[in-house]
Amino acid sequence: MSVLLVEDDASIAIVITAALEAEGLAVTRCETVAERDRLLAERRFSALVTDVVLPDGDGIETLGAVRHLHPALPVVILSAQNTLDTAVRASDTGAFEYFPKPFDIDELARTVRQAIGAGEAIPDRAEEAPADAALPLVGRSPAMQTVYRMITRVLRNDLTVLILGESGTGKELVAEAIHRLGNRAAGPFVAVNTAAIPAELIESELFGHEKGAFTGAVARHIGKFEQAAGGTLFLDEIGDMPMQAQTRLLRALQSGSIRRVGGREEVRCDARIIAATNQALAAMIAAGRFREDLYYRLNVVPITLPPLRERPGDIAALAGHFLKLAAGEGLPRRRLAADAIALLGRQSWPGNVRELKNFIYRMALLSREDVVDAAALAPMLDQAPQAQAGADGDSGLETAVGRWLAEARPAAGTVYDTALAAFERPLFAQVLRATGGNQLRAAQQLGINRNTLRKRLGELAIDPEEFTRRG
Ligand SMILES: Nc1ncnc2c1ncn2[C@@H]1O[C@H](COP(=O)(O)OP(=O)(O)OP(=O)(O)O)[C@@H](O)[C@H]1O
Ligand SMILES: [Mg+2]
Repeated sequence: MSVLLVEDDASIAIVITAALEAEGLAVTRCETVAERDRLLAERRFSALVTDVVLPDGDGIETLGAVRHLHPALPVVILSAQNTLDTAVRASDTGAFEYFPKPFDIDELARTVRQAIGAGEAIPDRAEEAPADAALPLVGRSPAMQTVYRMITRVLRNDLTVLILGESGTGKELVAEAIHRLGNRAAGPFVAVNTAAIPAELIESELFGHEKGAFTGAVARHIGKFEQAAGGTLFLDEIGDMPMQAQTRLLRALQSGSIRRVGGREEVRCDARIIAATNQALAAMIAAGRFREDLYYRLNVVPITLPPLRERPGDIAALAGHFLKLAAGEGLPRRRLAADAIALLGRQSWPGNVRELKNFIYRMALLSREDVVDAAALAPMLDQAPQAQAGADGDSGLETAVGRWLAEARPAAGTVYDTALAAFERPLFAQVLRATGGNQLRAAQQLGINRNTLRKRLGELAIDPEEFTRRG
């Protein structure tokens, strides 16, 4: 299904085209009445979307001939001349809808779809989309269309993008899409998870180091900033970056150049920066845990991914997409009955798309039927850790605790102690890793007595030797 868009303002045309394409429509654009008539004579279109004031005439006055030749063609009129007169003239032409500018782009796209008619089946994107479709993102909810529009706006520039959203909403996927579809696709995509690197190694990871810069720096190391030259540097989990590293990062972004640890030379950085976090940065800034100036540096173009529970309409397409992926990876090929899809739509999905994906894979594996209905699905959902979704900015920890409770199922009366022990283990591991296995420094950082730490490590069977850095 294709739409003819008559719009002489290129910037408006780009936004409308993106919105219509997100609705699954192909768009042909022209700028004048003459081109419009030529195209209408040559090809069949499913709808006409037209501006009023065009370089060679009035989009409404000249519609008479169009309606005469194509009486069934739905027409949607856009106009900056927000007057009653234009509105009346538009409705006189029998136009399907009249949109005064500025208009809601999503509403426009929906209207065009409706105008074309519910009768024409909407192609199932999940079914037809090849693995590396233009946008590897599935979902056509209005909320996701806003995301797609934002993505299209950053492809032809190097503006810094900050991707926000709960865990599992697709932040990394969006970062990759921007890289792959953008100007820097030919260059490398370098991802750094700043949460996974021990605090004192972050600078060397990001900026590199010279040989002998510190004990253990046996050779020069090229950091991620330099590795990403000509491409994109994806700074993931930026909210977990330690303060000192934040300061260094800010300096690099401000100056546009970096200096390797222990080095003198300033190296220009030529990487597009995309950052992401699932943390509520505003609260972290208020608590003094995230630099406000760094936030403003990164937050040039924010893209916020909506949680899955706010776009249940995407679940059918996503489930279909993951069923196909699962089959592609050798799992049995399953389909979901309509009542099963409805049931999925009623779940809260605290782990968002990632949780849905994992669930679909598990279901493909465990199901006994090829077509899975709600009755067969319900027991599998009961096993899924449906932790209560934190309404106000779940830090990810809440989700993790919910998942842990569902999996570990500690016996009644032992939940508190078992949970604390389970929490201590990764906590101690993090801190020991950060201090290179130095128990005294680890105890100081934790703010507990060294003997207490030693005792707990013994009880939890954690060997601090494991975290000693060698070489
Ligand atoms: N719109 C989507 N279409 C298809 N797959 C998606 C979509 N959104 C997310 N996914 C898939 O869900 C999984 C989680 O996505 P991703 O890793 O990008 O999430 P994230 O927001 O980076 O999460 P976290 O904050 O936990 O790092 C991935 O397997 C990804 O491919
Ligand atoms: Mg991620």
